Amino acid sequence: MIPLFSTHIPKLAGEEVKRLIESGWLNRGKKAELFELSFMKMFGCNNALSVNSCTSALRLAYDIAKSIAKEDKRINPEIITTPYTMIATNTALLECRIRPVFVDINYETININPDDIENNITDDTIAIVGVDYAGLPCDWNKINRIAKKYDLIVIQDAAQALGAKYCGSDINKWTDMTCYSFQAIKHITTGDGGMFVTINPFIAELAKRKIWFGIDKDARIQTELGTVFPDITTLGFKYAMNDVSATMGIEGLKDLEWILKRRAEIAKQYREEFMGVKDLLPTRYDGDKMESANWLFPIHVKRRSKFAKKMRNMGIEVAVHNWRNDIYTVFYNSKTSELKNIQRINDDLIHIPLHAELTQEQVNYIIRTIKGMRW
Ligand SMILES: Cc1ncc(COP(=O)(O)O)c(C=O)c1O
Repeated sequence: MIPLFSTHIPKLAGEEVKRLIESGWLNRGKKAELFELSFMKMFGCNNALSVNSCTSALRLAYDIAKSIAKEDKRINPEIITTPYTMIATNTALLECRIRPVFVDINYETININPDDIENNITDDTIAIVGVDYAGLPCDWNKINRIAKKYDLIVIQDAAQALGAKYCGSDINKWTDMTCYSFQAIKHITTGDGGMFVTINPFIAELAKRKIWFGIDKDARIQTELGTVFPDITTLGFKYAMNDVSATMGIEGLKDLEWILKRRAEIAKQYREEFMGVKDLLPTRYDGDKMESANWLFPIHVKRRSKFAKKMRNMGIEVAVHNWRNDIYTVFYNSKTSELKNIQRINDDLIHIPLHAELTQEQVNYIIRTIKGMRW
């Protein structure tokens, strides 16, 4: 079976992790620091903090959005969000005691529809979170314009979008806080892990403390009794990435350029070959404005179950991967606007294999199979 996803293990990752283990230092330390520096250099940002998952990065972002919101907004805070995403985008809101306000998505891009945001803003809204679904950036210019008008924080769930660009710049330039994932099947992996990036130096300082119990490491005092932390003024979490994961991340970044290039090549072939195929429509790709990181290749298909069954019979793994979040019981207390597109997407969207480990023969086979198949 041609797998839908792959886990990319860089050539030297094993050796480097072994060397680290032999050194006896597994905690967060020099490797995490180096991973962050390499990341900032590669993506041209100033404040990147490696954490133990993207879910942690999202919780951190939501917690910070809440803590810097005006006092009257902290009582019943709401964040405007997409209902079509991996569940972590929205369960993290509940964990932070923030009410998700689900708005509609764009049928063609699967991303949050900026035109549906403004009429869902209330006095309790503190932020907007958008997910760059499948690696394709949201329309951040439009979202930022609304955020500015209502003084809202903008958070980007870029778990699927490492390396994507918007209007010629890396995606992390466009939002107050950006959260990446290095979970096992992402572009690069640290086993589990994430990166929290912010363009705001004040948020960066706060986040630094919050990823380690709220402790300001720079204020530590060494005494004959050991390390003393003078005070802890803000509540934090245990989210910091350890050096084992960071070692894998450092090696992963070295491979990222060709991973992105290969994914883009395959996606381009799919888009060209599937043009005009009956009952199948790849999601929209806005090449001029948005450069996708091509994590998934989503397609709308008619008679989806039949399509899936036939593809599996032909040895090609396909899957829906995400389901609309708003129908899950845990979200009983969320707000939902009229979601015109979500049901359509929930009924016709499916993903076909897209990853850097696919051989050209496998790509050709997938294309041939789909073009020659009736379902
Ligand atoms: C859109 C989105 N958000 C959040 C996450 C959670 O990431 P992690 O597993 O690193 O916590 C994922 C994971 O696949 C995701 O796809």
